[in-house]
Formats: sequence, C-alpha cells, structure tokens
Amino acid sequence: MKSKLTKSSVKEAVSQAFDECRLTTFALFHDMDEATFCSQPHPDFSPVGWHLGHIAYIESLWLLERCAGSPCLFPQYRKLFAADGLPKSERVHLPNLKEIRYYLDTVREKVLEYLEVADIEPQERLWRFLIQHESQHCEIISFVLELHKRNGELGASFGDKGRWGMERETSYSSVSLFSKSSQLSTFTEMIQIPSGEFEQGSDSSDALDNERPAHKVYLDTYMIDRYPVTCGQYRSFMEAGGYQNSLWWSESGWQWLQNAPVTQPLYWCSERSYDRHPVCGVSWYEAEAYSRFVGKRLPTEAEWEKAVSWDVQTNSHRTYPWGDEEPITQRCNCVGVAHSRHRPIGKTTAVDVYPTGKSAYGLYDALGNVWEWTASWFDGYKGFESYPYMGYSQVYFDQQHRVLKGGSWATRSWVLRSSFRNWYHPGVRQIFAGFRCAAD
Ligand code: AVJ
Ligand code: FE
Repeated sequence: MKSKLTKSSVKEAVSQAFDECRLTTFALFHDMDEATFCSQPHPDFSPVGWHLGHIAYIESLWLLERCAGSPCLFPQYRKLFAADGLPKSERVHLPNLKEIRYYLDTVREKVLEYLEVADIEPQERLWRFLIQHESQHCEIISFVLELHKRNGELGASFGDKGRWGMERETSYSSVSLFSKSSQLSTFTEMIQIPSGEFEQGSDSSDALDNERPAHKVYLDTYMIDRYPVTCGQYRSFMEAGGYQNSLWWSESGWQWLQNAPVTQPLYWCSERSYDRHPVCGVSWYEAEAYSRFVGKRLPTEAEWEKAVSWDVQTNSHRTYPWGDEEPITQRCNCVGVAHSRHRPIGKTTAVDVYPTGKSAYGLYDALGNVWEWTASWFDGYKGFESYPYMGYSQVYFDQQHRVLKGGSWATRSWVLRSSFRNWYHPGVRQIFAGFRCAAD
C-alpha cells in the first residue's frame, strides 16, 4: 500500500482489500434476527440494516455512477440509503437482509467488472476511501449491536421509546468492599516527550482528506500517559464522588451531566478483572473531568500523534506506533481479517498485553482497544481540500466535534493508523471511547 505499486498490483491490492473487507462485513450479520436488523436501540443511531444498505449505496454512487458513468442501479433505494435522505427514525422500514445482500452483491459484481477497465491511478484514493467508508460503518454497526445487547439484558423490547436515553446503571455503591489503595498507582506512569518538530498528518494514498497535507508541527516538552486510563483508575474517581462534584467538571461538562445523569461509563464492567482494561464508553466531558481529578489534562491531537508516531532516532514518522508493518491482531486489539486465524477478540483487553505494539516513545495500546478522546476540535489542516465530498469532513469543522484517535477493538486495519482522525460531539458515549491523559 505504501510503496509505488504498478497499475496491476494496485488493482490487485484494491480488489483483495474489497473482498476481505466485505467478508468481515457479512460476518457481522451472521445469525442476526430481524428485530436487531431493522430497529433502533437508540434514537441517535440508524438500524444496522440501514448501514449495510448505505455501504452499497455509496459504493454504487461513487464507482458506478460517478466514475463508470452508469445509471443508478437501484433507484428505489436512493432516498432510503443516502445519508441525507430520511430522518433516522424512518430508516426502520427496510428491505430484509436477503434483499439488501442482493443489493450489495449486485453492486459489487459491477464494481469488480469496472475495476478491470478502470484507470486506477487517478482513482486510487477513491477506492481506498470506499474501503475505509465501509470499515467505519461496520464499527458503527458493532456499537449499535452492543446497544441492542444491553437493551436486551435490561429486558427492554426493541424500539421501546420509554427506554431510550436511559443508561444502564448496575447497582453501584460508593462504599467499596475492596481495597482502595493501589488502583491509582497502577498504569499511571507518564512519559516525557522532548520538545521539537514532528510530522503530523499523511499524504499516503490511503490518507483521507482530513489527514492531508502532512505538515511539520513544533511542540514544547510535555508528559503523556504510557497507558490509556484503566477501569481500576477510573473507579477511584467514581468512589471519590467524581460524578457528584462539580469541582472536576468544566461548565459545559457539568451542564451535560445534569442533562444526562449518569454515574459510570456506558460500557462499565464492575468485575475487578476489568480493572486493567481501559475505560470504555465515556463522553469527552467525563474524560475531561477525570483528567482534572488526577491533576492532568487531555492531550491535544498533535501531542497524541507525536507520542504515537514520531521516531526520534530516525527523525521520521511511523504509519503505526510499531513501524510500517500493517496492523495485525498480535500487535493490537483490533478487527483482523475475517478468514485469518486470528479472530477479533470482540471486547477490550488489559492495557499492557501488546508490548509489540508500543510506539517509539513507549506508549502502549495507542491503536485498537479503545478510541482516545483528545482536547482538540476537529478542523482542517492548512491547505485542506475536501475529498471526495464536502460532507465527509468539512461540514464537521464547526467547533462542535472533538477528535478521537487510535481506533478500538471494533476497528478494522484499514482505518487504523496514527494519522487517522475520528470525530464526535463531546457528549457522545456510545462509541468505544476512552482516553489517556497528558500534562505540561
Ligand atoms: C468519522 C465516524 C464520524 O459516522 O459520520 C461514514 C464516518 N462519514 N459515512 C460518521 C462516515 C460518512 C463518520 N465518522
Ligand atoms: Fe456513510
């Protein structure tokens, strides 16, 4: 993917990635019941079946209509599966899984026929964008399935409006039966990153519009956590009444908390065996409050990226924390290839189990496991140009979205890299997000 490939090997690489990505997509729908397929477990997210149809719609629109100049293959699906077609609540009236699979298969057959004759060089970015588009929708499918599971465990019927907006609270008492010592001292080590320039962003063929152009950034010396914040550490915040004390919260954070009264992360697991796992399912506000509680702060995106990608020995940028070898499940907790030996773990793992995934500066778990909130608003780098359309990144440069880095256990290798940027409203906690802290 990185080096200069000949035309035919670019086509081969693209077609192999398309195949692998699609196999992994279909694996998510194996054995799925109809209610799960077409209902919303939460009003902010479309049913998983909608995401599946939307993947085919975008592939068809960009490759068959825009590139090949073919007419729309399934015009009856245009309104339903376009991102700006229907409100989410109306996306529950879906064709069934078999019909949507037929849609995907038909589009894909034409796409692969077109690939044979396509002028791949000017289009390579677009093909790579589409693999990443599918990958991202599949991560959304993963957390929507997680929301269904939680609703199911709570005994709620799918689509029961009464349950919406309510978070599961396992009975949590502020008096712990366990020792309160030691949890804060485990995995709290920080690494000092010396001042200097590094290269942020990427110009490689898979880099999306918001990662471009690669550019130099100078940072003063700072400190950053070696590990993501663990449940064991976060428990101390909860036990200290962190959710009850406005002292730790910013004004907007406290306001958010009053409107969404929660007392623990969305994907909180109270078993002590999770103490070594990263916190998962926190909003940006919760991450911010915890950071203040421990006398730290969230890293900026540039601080995160330098600590994860910069190799000070060679003065060069690494695509992945460990180097340039593509992500594999021995290096980090991510979604491997569907037919490989290494099946996705399907949940978080302890923060210190991937020593071979360390960055040059020594950060663990930067890719995979949980997304990490940063202090930065999502914005374009100097010289930004929309691609392939304004609605992909540019419309979110609105000072309303915070950047997340690194990917989660549900992220696929095609969107796992140090320069990749994800973004959400600071109040969102349904994604598989945690954080690590920084300090001056
Ligand atoms: C980058 C995950 C926030 O879900 O809106 C999918 C990805 N953009 N289709 C989103 C995306 C268009 C995007 N996120
Ligand atoms: Fe999309």
